[in-house]
Amino acid sequence: MPSAAPAFELGLQIGKYDVQKALGKGATGTVYFAKDTFTGREVALKTIEPEVFRDPEFGAVYKQQFQNEASLAGKVRHPHIVTIHDAVAGEDSGYIAMELVTGGDLSQYAKPDKLLSIPDVLQIGFKCCGALDYAYREVGIVHRDIKPANIMVSKGTDIKIADFGAAFLRKSQAVQTTAMGSPFYMAPEQIEGKDPTFHSDMYSLGVVLYELLTGKRPFSANSLEELVQKILTEEPPPPSTLRLALPKEIDAVVMRAIKKDPVERYGTWAQFSVALSKVVALVLEPGAIPDSERYLAISKVEMLQLLSDAEFWELAAAGKWSRVPKGKIIIKEDEPGQSFYFVAKGEAAVSRGGKALNTIGESEFFGEMAYIRAAAEEPRAATVQALTDLIIAEFEPATLETMSLEAQLHLARALVRNVVDRLALANTRITGA
Ligand SMILES: Nc1ncnc2c1ncn2[C@@H]1O[C@H](COP(=O)(O)OP(=O)(O)OP(=O)(O)O)[C@@H](O)[C@H]1O
Ligand SMILES: [Mg+2]
Repeated sequence: MPSAAPAFELGLQIGKYDVQKALGKGATGTVYFAKDTFTGREVALKTIEPEVFRDPEFGAVYKQQFQNEASLAGKVRHPHIVTIHDAVAGEDSGYIAMELVTGGDLSQYAKPDKLLSIPDVLQIGFKCCGALDYAYREVGIVHRDIKPANIMVSKGTDIKIADFGAAFLRKSQAVQTTAMGSPFYMAPEQIEGKDPTFHSDMYSLGVVLYELLTGKRPFSANSLEELVQKILTEEPPPPSTLRLALPKEIDAVVMRAIKKDPVERYGTWAQFSVALSKVVALVLEPGAIPDSERYLAISKVEMLQLLSDAEFWELAAAGKWSRVPKGKIIIKEDEPGQSFYFVAKGEAAVSRGGKALNTIGESEFFGEMAYIRAAAEEPRAATVQALTDLIIAEFEPATLETMSLEAQLHLARALVRNVVDRLALANTRITGA
């Protein structure tokens, strides 16, 4: 991204924001690193070029639309979406203050010599699906401009999608002729002028994944006409022909997302994300537990269904995840401890004094629940041993304190339910014996 900003712009005050340096330039304006002089918060400040607002065709309607879209996008709260703090439309200009993301955008990894690992690309794809699904279902918005430059990297495979609803700024004739948005990621139906849907976002994400996996876009052309023709009619080469380490199963997932006919793509974001999480298993380094597996394990727990998507991700991140081989003892009776555990996969046996009490399976919690008792370390009441190979997450009470009180309450309830059920079960077994 070109980031050449004239020196005089620095130190400029825009609204309550102190502009410090340019981060990059797009078709509709420039994004700056800025500081909110009131709160001291560092933000990314996107200024909208005056010509966008002066467009004779749109005028006031246009400004209203900007406010509407920005306020809708402002309602979105998700760990994988850039938060909008503030949006202002002035006389002949406007700006959007948003969450600052410091790892650059994904376009840096779309180059053949800078490619990310295959599992990392699939994890990024999985997180994008979840974010787009959330925005579509909870706020009712589609993105319309998914491309590498609009997916920011915060850390590792943790991404944040930027510019929700900003694509409408390009409807303006003036802007379109001066700097038309990149058509490489546009779905065939979008090119034909139909209203974008979640399926056109899905197509665009498919193109992004294709490019991140191979370093090449599905279609290249010498002219816009040729490109459009190819997007509408041509079948691109499967990604594995460009990166030999790619299993054919991954080809199938990406190629389905970029089908010409929207109904041939995945029916929902959830289906696309599950398909991505399944093929991760084919390329994983041994022993790794990908974020997608952590998230899916937590989000399917029945007792946690009242948690938000953001809280599922918080929990997934708060746990210390590990694989436990069959036969290993996880906690020992009478030894002190205050963490509790979650079984994502496999089965474990609970015993006391050598006597079997019961078993714990997938999606269940165990441990001393010092968290709910708010007590110091206490001796473990029972021994828990892996009956099969396990995937577990360990939760220290302290790591959960950063979660919202509401989330902590839901979690505590789920744990209490679990303890009560287990006690009831143990009691019936004892009395029934
Ligand atoms: N929230 C953010 N935090 C940090 N940098 C950002 C943020 N949003 C955008 N940027 C950077 O600013 C650059 C310009 O962004 P902008 O959205 O204006 O253009 P673009 O996405 O490249 O193209 P277009 O105008 O077609 O959307 C991006 O390349 C991105 O790296
Ligand atoms: Mg952008």
